[in-house]
Amino acid sequence: MKIAVIGTGYVGLVSGTCFAEWGHTVICVDKNTRKIADLHQGRMPIYEPHLDEMVERNYAAGRLDFTCNLNSAVTGAAIVFIVVATPPRIDRVETDLSCIYLAACELAPLITDDTVVVLKSTVPVGTGDVVQKIIGAVRKPGTFSVASNPEFLREGLAVCDFLAPDRVVIGVDDERACKRLLELYDVPMGLQETPILVTTRRTAELIKYAANAFLATKITFINELADLCEQVGSDVEELALGMGLDRRIGTTFLAPGPGFGGSCFPKDTQALLRTAQDYGVELRIVEETIIANDARKRRMALKVMEALGGSVDGRTIAILGLTFKPDTDDMREAPSVRLIEALQRFGGHIRAYDPVGIENAASMLDHVVFCDDPYECVRDADAAVVMTEWAIIKNLDLAQLKNNMRQPILVDLRNALQVEAALQLGFRISTIGRPACAEGDLQSMMRLRNKSLRTAKASSAVTRERENGTIR
Ligand SMILES: NC(=O)c1ccc[n+]([C@@H]2O[C@H](COP(=O)([O-])OP(=O)(O)OC[C@H]3O[C@@H](n4cnc5c(N)ncnc54)[C@H](O)[C@@H]3O)[C@@H](O)[C@H]2O)c1
Repeated sequence: MKIAVIGTGYVGLVSGTCFAEWGHTVICVDKNTRKIADLHQGRMPIYEPHLDEMVERNYAAGRLDFTCNLNSAVTGAAIVFIVVATPPRIDRVETDLSCIYLAACELAPLITDDTVVVLKSTVPVGTGDVVQKIIGAVRKPGTFSVASNPEFLREGLAVCDFLAPDRVVIGVDDERACKRLLELYDVPMGLQETPILVTTRRTAELIKYAANAFLATKITFINELADLCEQVGSDVEELALGMGLDRRIGTTFLAPGPGFGGSCFPKDTQALLRTAQDYGVELRIVEETIIANDARKRRMALKVMEALGGSVDGRTIAILGLTFKPDTDDMREAPSVRLIEALQRFGGHIRAYDPVGIENAASMLDHVVFCDDPYECVRDADAAVVMTEWAIIKNLDLAQLKNNMRQPILVDLRNALQVEAALQLGFRISTIGRPACAEGDLQSMMRLRNKSLRTAKASSAVTRERENGTIR
């Protein structure tokens, strides 16, 4: 099947490459000429584990190509995916759908009869109706279809997620679109066990927002419980495990941190709330999630100040990890940006390290000394703050870290470091939702026991993914 993918970003590039991996002929289009030129020369425009080898393989096999020429991409394509960005507008309330509508206007005169245009971007309910009208203005009714196929992949795990998703959601309002998308998703290896939900276009559009709002709420719930743990002397990590081992709850998305960020949760919760307001429906839980998350991000700077005795004025703070999560270079809405800007306002000097996010971070932040090495980053720092739980950061040699620092103060906003080891080395360490004191024998025994519970759970998840062929 010939497939065109409009928008070659985090989702478009992964989707297009995986469709090619399934044997289809795919052309990815982008307006960004540099991105397309880089891809032709084998340079990846984003960091996403396992993607580069798959792009290279499919490009070499002639199944995958990249272009800025929309005409050549969509002419004769059986399916045209629109995967452009849908960021919040400047008011941060409305969704900016200009890229979607522009793509629809541009492709409308170019598609062949019988084409199915699919919105893979996350779009407010009813956007498919507008796209249908835009294309319908220049094409005969009944000669094309518009469908919704929201994407649920996670950056950092995008290839695995795409090749073996928890589910595929297809939103269609006519038979042609239904048959075409089932033909696309029914065949591939690895998807035999995957539930494929076929629903209306409007329901599919809403499912994506509902899923993201629910996950954002789960994170916010554990973040608020972490605050309570700090006050009552409980340990949020144990609490999350004790809750999450209940299969009705599940252990994922119960990791406390500095507040959710990234290119999806903040904008999608806001967009869902806006849709509800437009239709006169109250979504109080989603509204509170947004408010609580925003307040939390602001409070993180105070946590760093507290660790430094009340002020960061004139102090040097090393930020370890910048991206909103590990295994991606995506800096959109990363909590590190808000934290750094706040610390700078209070007079702090910032040094920062990230394994792959520095280039993107440098375009968003001023007056930051970026370092390629974590140990160099903490040199002469008064405190080090963990913002992203990259494996390299979790496994830092704490003794070496301490040797380079001016003061042995750690603020671990991801609970990524070994508290006991840090305390033994003489660090003062502040974490999220955990007692910050040295542990006795009983606490160590409990932690060791519960660690084995966590490891058993994690390894059974890995085994499952290996069996599914998603980890090689
Ligand atoms: N990033 C994620 O983890 C994720 C996950 C699921 C869903 N989504 C959704 O997928 C959509 C895309 O997100 P993304 O992160 O891939 O965005 P992105 O910004 O990485 O990529 C969008 C690409 O579209 C290109 N573009 C814009 N208008 C174009 C046009 N008219 N013609 C050709 N190219 C055009 C841009 O140059 C850019 O390269 C969004 O709606 C997002 O909410 C994202």
